[in-house]
Amino acid sequence: MAPNPERAGSAASLRAMERILAARGLQAVPEAIDDDSPEENPGHRQWHRRARAEYALGRWSAATPPRYRDADASLPEVRAWADRALTDNAAAGALLLTGQTGTGKTHEAYGALRMIAAGGPDRYELIAVNSADMYGRLRPSQVMGAAERELRRLSEVQYLLLDDLGTAKASEWVEEVTYRLINYRYNHCLPTVITSNLPARDESGPDLTDFVGARVASRLAEMVTSLVPMIGSDRRRGGRAA
Ligand SMILES: Nc1ncnc2c1ncn2[C@@H]1O[C@H](COP(=O)(O)OP(=O)(O)OP(=O)(O)O)[C@@H](O)[C@H]1O
Ligand SMILES: [Mg+2]
Repeated sequence: MAPNPERAGSAASLRAMERILAARGLQAVPEAIDDDSPEENPGHRQWHRRARAEYALGRWSAATPPRYRDADASLPEVRAWADRALTDNAAAGALLLTGQTGTGKTHEAYGALRMIAAGGPDRYELIAVNSADMYGRLRPSQVMGAAERELRRLSEVQYLLLDDLGTAKASEWVEEVTYRLINYRYNHCLPTVITSNLPARDESGPDLTDFVGARVASRLAEMVTSLVPMIGSDRRRGGRAA
């Protein structure tokens, strides 16, 4: 295809402007995606971001159950984590939302992942899984290698939402599977969102460490860049105390 001189010209003037700003110690602020951006212009950076956001939001809704399709992250620390993941995927680490039932953990988790998608990231793959379902799928099955393939899929996906960690019955097998999953994501610096009814640490009662074991807990301690304990009453009961 012949190069478009007009587009090449505007890209050159954009680079020239960036050089002038850089010489003055200033940085060009990334443009927000707004509705007036030139949709007809595939050479425009905004156009590419918009196209990436559309694709990522499509993947987000495919991975999101209907109940959470309107989920918006409302907590500032959750939004800040999503912003960081958008800026530097490898440095985002894990977002851990803890709290009692119905406080909105799953809602915030889907909201955070939606925010990342809406920002038009370079790449967007998401698997969202309830941990009890996950352990069910990972039990050795009749189909040769199916559980191993599933574990690899969950380990390698770019964004993983592990919902309700700690609800399965703790056992050596659960600990080992959790270790293999978390260890992979830890080693490869893959952003992970975890929700749990268990507190991260509780000297006087059951906590996440008791469930996942010391080696996973140690990795989580380093991976979790944002720990958000959610308080409040059960929203499913209209906010009345449970
Ligand atoms: N910020 C919010 N705005 C509107 N609705 C919300 C919000 N947070 C949660 N909800 C709604 O409240 C209900 C409970 O939220 P959610 O499922 O996220 O709770 P949870 O903490 O994950 O509970 P559980 O521990 O039982 O899984 C859902 O219907 C959800 O859509
Ligand atoms: Mg939940």
